[in-house]
Amino acid sequence: MLNYAATSSFNCHNNRFTPPPFSSNYTLHPPSHSLSSSSSSSSSPSLSSQFHQNSPLIHVYKHTHFNPSPRTKGLKVRCSQNEPLKVMISGAPASGKGTQCEMIVQKFGLVHISTGDLLRSEVAAGSEIGNQAKEYMNSGRLVPDEVVTTMVIGRLSRDDAKEKGWLLDGFPRSFAQAQSLEKMKIRPDIFVALDVPDEILIDRCVGRRLDPETGKIYHIKNFPPETEEVKARLITRADDTEEKVKSRLQIYKQNVEAILSTYSDLLKKIDGNRPKDVVFGEINSMLLQIQKEKETKKSENAIKLNSQFNKSPATKENWRGIPTNLNNIPHSREIREYFYDDVLQATQRAINDGKTRVKVEINIPELNPEQDVYRIGTLMELVRVLALSFADDGKRVKVSVQGSMGEGALAGMPLQLAGTRKILEFMDWGNDGAMGNFINIGSIGGKEVDEVDDIFILVAPQNAMGNCIIDDLRAMTNAAGSRPVILINPRLKDLPASSGIMQTMGREQRLEYAASFEMCYQFRLLYYAGTQYPIMGALRMAYPYRYELFKRVNDANGKEKYVILSTFPSRPTGDEINDAFEGRTRDKVKKSSGFWGFLSGILST
Ligand code: AP5
Repeated sequence: MLNYAATSSFNCHNNRFTPPPFSSNYTLHPPSHSLSSSSSSSSSPSLSSQFHQNSPLIHVYKHTHFNPSPRTKGLKVRCSQNEPLKVMISGAPASGKGTQCEMIVQKFGLVHISTGDLLRSEVAAGSEIGNQAKEYMNSGRLVPDEVVTTMVIGRLSRDDAKEKGWLLDGFPRSFAQAQSLEKMKIRPDIFVALDVPDEILIDRCVGRRLDPETGKIYHIKNFPPETEEVKARLITRADDTEEKVKSRLQIYKQNVEAILSTYSDLLKKIDGNRPKDVVFGEINSMLLQIQKEKETKKSENAIKLNSQFNKSPATKENWRGIPTNLNNIPHSREIREYFYDDVLQATQRAINDGKTRVKVEINIPELNPEQDVYRIGTLMELVRVLALSFADDGKRVKVSVQGSMGEGALAGMPLQLAGTRKILEFMDWGNDGAMGNFINIGSIGGKEVDEVDDIFILVAPQNAMGNCIIDDLRAMTNAAGSRPVILINPRLKDLPASSGIMQTMGREQRLEYAASFEMCYQFRLLYYAGTQYPIMGALRMAYPYRYELFKRVNDANGKEKYVILSTFPSRPTGDEINDAFEGRTRDKVKKSSGFWGFLSGILST
């Protein structure tokens, strides 16, 4: 197992990566210092555990501010701070990447991730990564892709990079590295390529000196140190000899085209053979422009979403308790929005309270696959509202739809989910780049969990005749660890033949696992036994409040309304509902009777 980041540190003050105490990999200039090489990292966390510790868990959504009342006027689209900048800077050795990064970080506060710096700190720390990298770096070759890529992706997934934005310096440096980022849908807003003639590069490298205390880059002629004290502690990089620079330059040239073509749509070539302030001036105005465009897009989107969700208060004012006319199909926009908002707020509250395995069960006619008015679009809209809202809080959301299950003649997927993934892909996800960036679509299974994912929304996971989704679901939740997983309208009841193929859990365990998801929202309409008309009442629960039992009545004007009959600390049984409707108290009644008897069947999952 590789060890990672033994002594490297990150300076929060200026977002600059601070190299650790240097080791013999550096030559001192002049005179030699006593070197304090860092201890070996045998006790440091392993690569995987380090990443685990730093995995982007959601603890608290600090900047969500939903109304604690379940009866809000409308969805507030939360505008977290402006979406941070994501910048890649590339160029030949000594083209001035590090120098420009210092200035960019100072101005924009981005997290500077320099693979060269990270690797040098590993070398200095004597870590396993460092030991592997040393030989490559000293000879001017590229360190193997998998080592660098794992390091960078782990660093990018940390909270500071997500919140402040990032500046990637020296990565990607090969086609494979670029493709790894592409696969994870990690893209910058801009790809800056510094262009400097070869002969200048060699002079810059050979004359470069570094301050190990501040990380500042100097040049013996171009940018000499300010004081004698600084001068005395300057070091030269081991790979800054003329011969090694030539070899680094050659490797750069072999790779550069493949990388530039990956980012051709975001590429800005800049003449780096000008004074550093002039070069920075050009980069600065590009970044300011991008920042401005992001702000505009974000506020346009927020306005659009807010207006979409806060419409028609007049209609809502006509409701008493919960929306009426639920038998009118298709549901009006106001009704749909009421439920999206209700579900969203309950879910947010549950996640805020640290719940990590939750489920939503909402069974209005358009979301009830057993009714012929079932509308897949309503389910997708609900999922979109949840996903966009979490993404708006800066979280990376994976929306998962199970794929085809089984093999051969038994392969297939539940009818309810047919075409769902395509619909999700073609939906309008707003134009601020949330889809593909903060929101990604995937399937259900352990391999669907990426390091960068913060939260998972699973669309109607369900068993089908002959196939059981629970093993895949369990693999996914295991991989998700303490990251929240939200099931929307799951159907995990054991079907007669669902125990067949590839099943590793027993029936009892499957049922127990299915029940381990805590209900954070439930809405069910109640009907007479064996009918779907008329609606007799409704049961609603929005975390963390009690279950509310409503009865539908017509008021004096003949208008429909719902009146609350009773509340329950946990989901009421069919008997308890019967009693509430018939005005009886539980202890007087021993067994279920009357037309509500059917409910005990309906209410079991
Ligand atoms: P890395 O540290 O990234 O080295 P590099 O790409 O070769 O770039 P440099 O750090 O040498 O130069 P720079 O462009 O930052 O220039 P600087 O601002 O310092 O990588 C080192 C090694 O690590 C690689 O060889 C490889 O082995 C490994 N590695 C790193 N990333 C990897 C990856 N992704 N995959 C695999 N292996 C990886 O400026 C240079 C000098 O010029 C300074 O003295 C400066 O003062 C001067 N200067 C800067 N700007 C100007 C200007 N405008 N005018 C005049 N002088 C200037």
